[in-house]
Amino acid sequence: MTLVIGSQKSTTKPFIPGTQEISHSRQLLNKMTQNWSRRAKVVQAKNHNLDFNSPELAFNPARDDFRIDLLPFKDHPAFLEAPLKMQQQILSCGWIAYNEKTVDIESKVVSPACNHIIYQEVPGVDDGVGREIASDTLVDEAYHILLVMQACRITREQRGLESLKLPNFNLVKQMTLEQAKYSERWQKILVQIATATVSEVFISDYLNLLAKDTNIQPMNRLIVDTHRQDEMAHHSIFINLAQCIYTKLSPIQQEFFADVLPLPVRWFANSELEVWQTMLEYVGFSKTREVIADCAVTDEVNLTRIDYSGVISLAEELGALNSQRGIDSFARQGLLK
Ligand SMILES: [Fe+2]
Ligand SMILES: [Fe+2]
Repeated sequence: MTLVIGSQKSTTKPFIPGTQEISHSRQLLNKMTQNWSRRAKVVQAKNHNLDFNSPELAFNPARDDFRIDLLPFKDHPAFLEAPLKMQQQILSCGWIAYNEKTVDIESKVVSPACNHIIYQEVPGVDDGVGREIASDTLVDEAYHILLVMQACRITREQRGLESLKLPNFNLVKQMTLEQAKYSERWQKILVQIATATVSEVFISDYLNLLAKDTNIQPMNRLIVDTHRQDEMAHHSIFINLAQCIYTKLSPIQQEFFADVLPLPVRWFANSELEVWQTMLEYVGFSKTREVIADCAVTDEVNLTRIDYSGVISLAEELGALNSQRGIDSFARQGLLK
């Protein structure tokens, strides 16, 4: 039997458990669609003052572009002993990587998931509301890409990092490898939906620290804060989409979703050491090899760096942890005590 994820052949599982949650989720999604033009930052962009030439946002070379505590080698003696100018350049690289990873999340993780919904390839969200909210989200993410690209260009020009080219990020590499393991299209789509859902649950936290940091470059803080405000809405959009989707999956598809949902948590906990190695070599940091090797031993995947409680709560709400198989899949990734 071929299991096709899509409206035409989606399973007709008796729609009893979670019915109230689904209608509640659908109502919320409907309301959020109606609110989009009021809350979306791209709609407010004309009135929103993101003039990079304004004095408050003017680039200040004396300010750091990024937070030291977000570097995987923040306590490494070789980094702490480096000249201040080198440390500052490494922070600028960190800001560029942070933005380019954001572009990856928007364009390679979240947008394809929205497109699957728009093309009615995902059950439970193949109606007008599901497709419209996926379209709203696509517009938001396109605007976020524009924002962070502007930020990257200014930083690269101001810091002399124009020719820095980064390798692929681990998050997308891992997702693509996972999709390649499966032959069925519905499996590949569910890996994409799971990764997008976890990304959207995490991204507000990912943005939060910088959005509130008044010591970094003011332009950087404002861009991250603008993005964060849209992502607060996306967080609940994706939780509600996941509710609508999960209930319409067949039992086999639900088990599969419960299996893959914890994986992106570990992918997010990865320090992206290959990207860091490229950047440290680019700025001529002489202890690159030593620092990267030490981080690979102690900190390559560090679950303590991220708060994944939102993903556990989502899995509980979906009922994905009601089966031993679901519990085992979260436990295998080290997410359950
Ligand atoms: Fe975004
Ligand atoms: Fe988003």
